[in-house]
Amino acid sequence: MTGTTGRTALVTGASSGIGAATARLLAARGMRVVVNYLRSRTAAEEVVADIEAAGGQAMAVQADVREAAAVESMIALGTAKAALTQFARYLAQELGPRGITVNVVEPGPVEDTRMAGVLDEAHRQRQVAATPLGRLARPGDVAQAVAFYAGEDNAFMTGTTATVNGGMSMY
Ligand SMILES: NC(=O)c1ccc[n+]([C@@H]2O[C@H](COP(=O)([O-])OP(=O)(O)OC[C@H]3O[C@@H](n4cnc5c(N)ncnc54)[C@H](OP(=O)(O)O)[C@@H]3O)[C@@H](O)[C@H]2O)c1
Repeated sequence: MTGTTGRTALVTGASSGIGAATARLLAARGMRVVVNYLRSRTAAEEVVADIEAAGGQAMAVQADVREAAAVESMIALGTAKAALTQFARYLAQELGPRGITVNVVEPGPVEDTRMAGVLDEAHRQRQVAATPLGRLARPGDVAQAVAFYAGEDNAFMTGTTATVNGGMSMY
């Protein structure tokens, strides 16, 4: 695999939803992409095929990210979001001297994902009404933020969190 930027992106959970959109966008921006999945091999292979058909480079790799002890214990906290933000700041501190940036992208509700599929229409409409930009996020909105952080445009942002929620909550 040789991407045009020389960068390789490992996108965990890239067989569907936000991860699949992120994999496609990073590949379109010239990165080689590893499309990680847990069970959905066919879907992951479809993402790879789409990327290759568009002239990009990708490969699908099955792995359970929960096998990493740190990730597992973080999820078992029930405060995963806060723990992840704190963990990212710690990593940013530790890895900064090596030129590695660590940032968090925090989406609000995202359309066209499995999670969105379980919401009833009334709930969805309440969420839209509470969003200043007047719609829910799409997977591509989240992918844009990830692509910024992962690309060469981000030289000096580390330890930050980007919320992608159309203003549904502001802090
Ligand atoms: N959708 C939303 O509204 C929303 C809002 C805020 C935050 N988020 C967060 O954003 C992330 C992606 O959400 P999504 O809606 O795009 O999810 P999704 O469509 O359900 O996709 C989840 C992806 O993660 C993979 N996956 C699940 N468990 C895994 C594991 N243990 N190891 C490796 N891969 C695993 C799945 O692979 P398989 O298909 O192979 O199982 C799939 O590719 C999640 O962390 C979610 O909590 C989502």
